[in-house]
Amino acid sequence: MGKVAVGAAVVCAATACAVAALVVRQRMRTTSKWARAEAILRELEDKCSTPIGKLRQVADAMTVEMHAGLASEGGSKLKMLISYVDNLPTGNEKGLFYALDLGGTNFRVLRVQLGGKEGRVVKQEAEEVSIPPHLMVGSSHELFDFIAAELAKFVASEGENYHLSFGRQRELGFTFSFPVRQTSIASGTLIKWTKGFSIEDTVGEDVVGELTKAMERQGLDMRVTALVNDTIGTLAGGRYYDSDVVIAVILGTGTNAAYVERAQSIPKWHGLLPKSGEMVINMEWGNFRSSHLPLTEYDQALDVESLNPGEQIFEKLISGMYLGDIVRRVLWKMAEEAAFFGDTVPPKLEVPFILRTPVMSAMHHDTSTDLRVVGTKLKEIFGISNTSLRTRKAVVEVCDIIARRGARLAAAGMVGILKKQGRDAPASAGEKQRTVIAMDGGLYEHYTIFSKCLESTLSEMLGEEVSKTIVVTHANDGSGIGASLLAASHSQYLEVEES
Ligand code: GLC
Repeated sequence: MGKVAVGAAVVCAATACAVAALVVRQRMRTTSKWARAEAILRELEDKCSTPIGKLRQVADAMTVEMHAGLASEGGSKLKMLISYVDNLPTGNEKGLFYALDLGGTNFRVLRVQLGGKEGRVVKQEAEEVSIPPHLMVGSSHELFDFIAAELAKFVASEGENYHLSFGRQRELGFTFSFPVRQTSIASGTLIKWTKGFSIEDTVGEDVVGELTKAMERQGLDMRVTALVNDTIGTLAGGRYYDSDVVIAVILGTGTNAAYVERAQSIPKWHGLLPKSGEMVINMEWGNFRSSHLPLTEYDQALDVESLNPGEQIFEKLISGMYLGDIVRRVLWKMAEEAAFFGDTVPPKLEVPFILRTPVMSAMHHDTSTDLRVVGTKLKEIFGISNTSLRTRKAVVEVCDIIARRGARLAAAGMVGILKKQGRDAPASAGEKQRTVIAMDGGLYEHYTIFSKCLESTLSEMLGEEVSKTIVVTHANDGSGIGASLLAASHSQYLEVEES
């Protein structure tokens, strides 16, 4: 072999070695990337796990807190607010009524022509308007002016087939989906804003007064005859169609539940006992917390950086406003600590709330073999392209862990209510028991894996026999109809009609 040939051979060998070393290093990096990512995932799975024993503890804690919240003002994280709804719709409601639903990213206006027992809901029309984000953190004056203006437009667009009795004022059921301390069926003060609303002024004093003034500024002659939470509206709407509805649960931007409580021996109600012997309670369960809740570092960080740190802990584990952001936080950690999306951390992973729950849901429901939707969404939302199938699978797994934890905890909360009502056990011999739970909210409606998991967890917790007595139904926009029904049953003209 000549000198040149030897030199070339040496160079080739050296290059081959270098390439091999690079490949090995790359492989080691890849292996350690996967090992680290896997470790993060397994830790997440472990910290989020909700075995049945834990769920039972959560359900028991919910029941205990319900008792405490009913027993005394401030006795629990659960506010257990009295709704002043002691008579649920009967079907006799008649006339033209309106509802206004405020409490998520959108608000809705609705008109309903009610035809009594025979006609039921003769016709209805609704419109949905999204709330400009700056109004969610501005002044209540601006927010209410915007809403009243939309309501005025809605009324102005009314066709002739809707009939307001001659000489009557229009009446409205106002679904205001925030914690409100009611002073009557049609008045109350806001306790605090939740779900990303952060408004620093006077609406708290008198919710209905504030809306009424805004309507007056728009020249709209309308009277609020019922102020209700969305859970109360849903319960009322559900009851209109099925007399066994005794619980309503909202799973949407936020989460909450209401239920029918027996009136006896509740100290908070002294002097306020309803004639019917029953009262609907707005639990505000979003604010529930317990040492049994499986909280992770991601939940803690989300809470600390939120607009309402330390509050709405249950809601932050379960509801649509937060699920996507928990997933984002996990992916961010995987990017930082395991270089999961390449050598640099994609900057968009650091943007709070950039991953919305509907997008998380779309990724979670991706059934294509190459997880195409996951790939597209990672690119669209975070600018992460060329992801491998393995990476996409890991992303779906994160969604799965976070969604299932939320759904199972919500189911545990529902079992807590059933326990409080004594409906979590088989009925005594000869007694027929049927319990209907009216559900509503975008998360429940659109995130199928979530709602299926919730329902199967309920059955798992309650056992076969009791499960047969429990019906979970979707009360589609029950809250809007419910609010208009309550506006009707508290109409200022009722006595005139009855006499
Ligand atoms: C938040 C509100 C509560 C509402 C729920 C669902 O938890 O505080 O009033 O019912 O969201 O919209």
